[in-house]
Amino acid sequence: MALMAKDTLSITDNRTGKSYELPIAEGTIKAVDLRNIKVDDDDFGLMTYDPAFMNTAACRSAITFIDGDRGILRYRGYPIEQLAEKATFLEVAYLLAEGELPTQAQLDKWTNDIKYHTYVHTNIIKFLEGFRYDAHPMGMMVGTVAALSTFYPAAKNIADPANRYVQRIRLMAKFPTLAAFIFRHSRGLPYEFPRNDLDYIGNYVNMMFSIGGLHKPNKVLQRALEILLILHADHEQNCSTSAVRSVGSSHVDPYSAVSSGVAALYGPLHGGANEAVLEMLDEIGDKKQIPAFIAKVKAGEGRLMGFGHRVYKSYDPRAKLIKKTAYDVFAETGLNPKLEIALELERIALEDEYFIKRKLYPNVDFYSGLIYQAMSYPTDYFTVLFAVGRLPGWLAQWEEMLSDKDQKIARPRQIYTGPAARDFVPIVARK
Ligand code: SDX
Repeated sequence: MALMAKDTLSITDNRTGKSYELPIAEGTIKAVDLRNIKVDDDDFGLMTYDPAFMNTAACRSAITFIDGDRGILRYRGYPIEQLAEKATFLEVAYLLAEGELPTQAQLDKWTNDIKYHTYVHTNIIKFLEGFRYDAHPMGMMVGTVAALSTFYPAAKNIADPANRYVQRIRLMAKFPTLAAFIFRHSRGLPYEFPRNDLDYIGNYVNMMFSIGGLHKPNKVLQRALEILLILHADHEQNCSTSAVRSVGSSHVDPYSAVSSGVAALYGPLHGGANEAVLEMLDEIGDKKQIPAFIAKVKAGEGRLMGFGHRVYKSYDPRAKLIKKTAYDVFAETGLNPKLEIALELERIALEDEYFIKRKLYPNVDFYSGLIYQAMSYPTDYFTVLFAVGRLPGWLAQWEEMLSDKDQKIARPRQIYTGPAARDFVPIVARK
């Protein structure tokens, strides 16, 4: 008689001969169910050992869906290709936060709420003056976003959804202002204050590049930047989003939680990769040097920055769209000479067994930096642009975490590998 298929896992512990049946739900077993598997009553019970969370679902989320093998990315079910082509960044930010595309009335309210909060307290300027002129923009971003929390003590009241909305609006509104002010500080330029007669992207670009109130907007470049921000808006449980969720789970205010996301994104293995790609292309110098560089990577000396991904084991769908956008930008700005090296690097890598075997393809960071550079953003500023794009994702995930009844303060376990109990040794007796 065929066994009835059941959504359970039967486990036999060969240390005791005991059997256990664990329910399977949504492709997972509950890790805490393993704790019943013990060798005796003193036993704490089994845990899973999963450094870097290679195979652990830390939450249930309705925000972003990724299929790494098929190269699929959807925000709240909408394919990224359609959102990049048809939506504005604020529409996508609303979709991520609220779960639905906004009606015109909802978008108008969302846009006006954000416009109302674009100014930052001028003390932030004094705070910025404390940084050296050559401070890394991401280091300044981490500090200033966290400092914002000191201006809004009410933000600690994270139990109140209306208060959480106001703080999320403030962050959406002030993050571009901070990002622009950081750039102006680095350049020793006077600050261009927000202009509410401009749209979200236009205002940001104006605060960045306007000199004496004069800045002729380039609509093609602004739309290209908007598409890049849309493509960066969320990416389920990546390193920086996991940081925001984990830090936010202590019920700290959202400014402090988001600053932990900025810090995680700063790393060259994560958002810092777009800056590292340009440094890599500069190091390679010209196409003739590519084979030698690839050989070094295959010998384990460094990585092909902008390649590889924990989830995508195929071409990152965002990289495809960014590569397409690059041509629209270069039509306006002139071809970035480094594109040739990047294209040749990609061609060679995609034919090389080392990269094929490891399923290493260009990711979101491989081409984005070439576009930012063509748009006159300095290389060390690229990851700030990634953060401006990722902010709505961090905020949506933070909101979802706080509303999730399964969630509580994040506090993983460990396997202890240190010494057994021992007595204190007076300093005279130490060797
Ligand atoms: C982002 O998670 C997200 O969603 C992130 C992100 C988002 O939107 O939030 O998509 C944004 O961070 C994109 C990734 C940007 N980072 C880079 O481009 C840096 C270069 N790439 C990597 O370092 C790496 O691919 C990671 C960090 C992206 C993923 O690392 P994993 O999944 O931990 O893989 P791994 O380091 O275990 O590598 C597996 C193998 C290793 O070889 P072996 O030890 O098995 O021989 O692949 C090799 C690695 O050495 N490898 C690379 C490589 N990436 C992995 N070898 C050369 N060049 C690379 N880029």
